[in-house]
Amino acid sequence: MDKILIHGGKQLKGEIKISGSKNSALPILFASLLTDEPVIIKNVPSLADVDTTIGLLNFIGKKAIKKGHTVKVISKQKYKHIAPYDLVRKMRASILIMGPLLARLKKAYVSLPGGCTIGSRPIDIHLYAFKQLGAEISINEGYVKTFAKNGLKGNVIHFKFPSVGATENVLLSAVLAEGKVTIINAAREPEIEDLANVLVKMGANIAGAGTNKIIINGTKKLKGFVHSVIPDRIEAATYMIATAITKGHVTIKNVEPKHLYTISKSLKSCGITIKETQNTIFVKWTKYLKSKNIVTGVYPGFPTDVQAQWMALMCLAKGTSKITETIFENRFMHVSELQRFGANITANGNEVLVRGVKKLSGAPVMVSDLRAGAALILAGLAAEGKTVISRVYHLDRGYDALETKLKTLGANIKRTKI
Ligand code: EPZ
Repeated sequence: MDKILIHGGKQLKGEIKISGSKNSALPILFASLLTDEPVIIKNVPSLADVDTTIGLLNFIGKKAIKKGHTVKVISKQKYKHIAPYDLVRKMRASILIMGPLLARLKKAYVSLPGGCTIGSRPIDIHLYAFKQLGAEISINEGYVKTFAKNGLKGNVIHFKFPSVGATENVLLSAVLAEGKVTIINAAREPEIEDLANVLVKMGANIAGAGTNKIIINGTKKLKGFVHSVIPDRIEAATYMIATAITKGHVTIKNVEPKHLYTISKSLKSCGITIKETQNTIFVKWTKYLKSKNIVTGVYPGFPTDVQAQWMALMCLAKGTSKITETIFENRFMHVSELQRFGANITANGNEVLVRGVKKLSGAPVMVSDLRAGAALILAGLAAEGKTVISRVYHLDRGYDALETKLKTLGANIKRTKI
């Protein structure tokens, strides 16, 4: 089992390039199932979740090959309609295979994805949407079985919550439905817009992606596409916070500053200097770091995927900050690990209070989930002394070349087999 070793206290300086977005690349890879024509997807990050998705596509009947950061997908054989447990259990986003299979084969059996450490992660909103599109659903033997023998039909889908995945699953199926599909209370994340842009390139008729109301007029057939995935805003936010927590100054290249508005605004209000150009963000520590309360929310609110990283930063801020998590029911697994660095954090339900301390001390810690792992890396970079981080395989799901990028910025970090 790999571990990551950090000797903290180094200011991060220099520049790095952000990789393509994990949470955009995954649904776009699944979109390849909607056509028999070849597709080429560029700027795909090198991540475990991308490899899992490629494995799933190849199991179903595609031939997907990744060379560098480009994935080419061609059709090889008639699709299977079953996505098995041993593949689905590795990645919750596998549920996004349901929409395209249902649209193309009129049936899909997908192993129940199960929860993860940050929450039970139900799929009721996805299943409600497929029912609205005319599908019948049964759950047995650990599989969700969906059927639409007459194909999917247009309807209005009113989400009780703007689920990112459910919005993507509807986009990935309604594009081949008969008639008009309207999603009310759709998710507005940039990854939704990126997926919609791909579907429109394929010949789909979509209006309103990126707003809370999306209208899709179904079409009969979709064609291949070439597309470059948008930059990963969560990776970018992580490096912005890494710069602040180590009192450094870093130019972060290949980003969409507008996707990071809330993060930049929050860092500025803590006293960090932020300057933007069209596709770079320059982050610089000046003379202090004030505490700042945050409440996570759906886009464009403060991203839940940056909550853990923000908590790490607040451990060294002047004053007390309150962090409220409104999206997942159990996304504070990093609290106990941050306390091992000497952080002063008290948790109460979906809120934590962080009292800033003068310094953190390196410690042996364990990663529970992807973004909690990012928080531990940040704390280790800022802490005095040595930090040993175990279960780093969680990090490999969402951060492309993490150690290399941090080493480029001057961090004393390495992966070991200890
Ligand atoms: C996506 O997950 C992201 N994953 C998550 O990023 C991100 O945290 C999340 O959106 C919120 O922004 C990918 O894009 C691959 P949701 P998703 O459906 O689609 C509840 C990361 O670190 N819910 O918007 O699963 C759910 O339990 C990952 O990169 C239902 O109740 O998020 C959660 O509390 C972690 N029923 C909330 O909604 C449903 O049917 C948000 O879920 C679906 C969701």
